[in-house]
Amino acid sequence: MNSTFTLRLLSRGSKAILQQRPIITARSISILKNSRSANPVKITFNGIKPSKLNQLNQVRAIQTLDFGGVKEQVHERSDWPKEKFQKLFENDTIAIIGYGPQGRGQSLNAKDNGLNVIVGLREGGRSWKLALEDGWVPGKNLFNINDALSKGTIIGNLLSDAAQKELWPQFTPHLTKGKTIYFSHGFSIVYKEETNVIPPKDIDVIMIAPKGSGRTVRSQFLDGRGINSSFAVYQDATGKARDRCVALGIAIGSGYLYETDFKKEVFSDLFGERGVLMGAIQGLFLAQYEVLRERGHTPSEAFNETVEEATQSLYPLVGENGMDWMYAACSTTAQRGALDWYKPFHDATKPVFEKLYASVADGTETRRTLEKNSSPKYREELEEELREIRESEIWRAGKTVRSLRPEAKNK
Ligand SMILES: NC(=O)c1ccc[n+]([C@@H]2O[C@H](COP(=O)([O-])OP(=O)(O)OC[C@H]3O[C@@H](n4cnc5c(N)ncnc54)[C@H](OP(=O)(O)O)[C@@H]3O)[C@@H](O)[C@H]2O)c1
Repeated sequence: MNSTFTLRLLSRGSKAILQQRPIITARSISILKNSRSANPVKITFNGIKPSKLNQLNQVRAIQTLDFGGVKEQVHERSDWPKEKFQKLFENDTIAIIGYGPQGRGQSLNAKDNGLNVIVGLREGGRSWKLALEDGWVPGKNLFNINDALSKGTIIGNLLSDAAQKELWPQFTPHLTKGKTIYFSHGFSIVYKEETNVIPPKDIDVIMIAPKGSGRTVRSQFLDGRGINSSFAVYQDATGKARDRCVALGIAIGSGYLYETDFKKEVFSDLFGERGVLMGAIQGLFLAQYEVLRERGHTPSEAFNETVEEATQSLYPLVGENGMDWMYAACSTTAQRGALDWYKPFHDATKPVFEKLYASVADGTETRRTLEKNSSPKYREELEEELREIRESEIWRAGKTVRSLRPEAKNK
């Protein structure tokens, strides 16, 4: 019998090293690589799944993995089976403040995982109505923010980042010795000069930051999977903050947990969304589309060659196998051009990325976000900017292209 499990997120060059396996030691670890196929890396631990190993031996599933030559520890779900974290938190009340995508996903997951969870919201707001629809009961597990804060021993601050600043004075009287506060973003703590979010010294301050939307936090949990999250300990007053952070990370729906610190998390997060995840990609799409249009190409041709082929065909393959695989697998014509041109694009954009990182690191991005988001005209101004993108030719062309997809036609 030879069972395997699959780590889709590892790069193809990854090696796995087992740690802390006192009873069963893996006699063999094989890494099966298929460098020319879409198959992910498969790792066999002597024919036994790591989760099974855990059940058999209560061994920790912390693994040290080699990420392109750098070793990092990864915690996984089997490290904290349900019964174990239920025991750890049996005397805790987890008060989730805020019911945006993260508050909703994390609170429902932790409740379904058998923890004592309450939700704290402003009464009558949009979130309050949603929480009622989801079955939270006023006076039982749904409270106004103040009451939830007073009842919680572990407080999840999952308000919007702007509201975290605004409501912080309401939090502080309830942050008494021995309590824990957790965040899903390093924002409020790292930029404390702007936010004034400064917790007292005698509480634990931790972070569990899911790497995806709160909707995915919930949907992956319901699918029996778990989202990747990073975690960090900012303040360890009880001496137990790290273990409790990992356990809570699993309880709210993480599958894998990667350690970071608050600063690195917020820097990489703000940098990434302004860069390749959203800002840079819209800039690149638009520049390429404009050049094609200015040279006489039709909107459909310009869109297909810029966005549709990228998102529908190439990027999923890059996600599955890496850009190295993509370069090896494409036509020789595409290969030659891509090899010659990635360097000029790299050289042209790297200074912009440097400038962006500096702007994140010196707090400019945060000040701008807080200032813009707390303006009374925020919604109106935002709507105007979004309208500009929505009504631009490229995304109007995209709407038509998408309407031609078989799944859209079959609706
Ligand atoms: N969204 C993501 O994908 C994501 C991913 C990872 C981490 N995070 C982090 O997770 C945290 C929560 O983010 P989110 O996107 O889930 O939430 P969000 O949509 O930014 O915040 C919504 C919550 O904040 C409440 N709120 C806003 N202003 C308020 C005020 N003045 N008084 C009382 N409540 C107020 C809203 O209540 P009402 O409905 O009553 O207005 C709602 O419950 C943030 O730190 C964020 O950076 C988010």
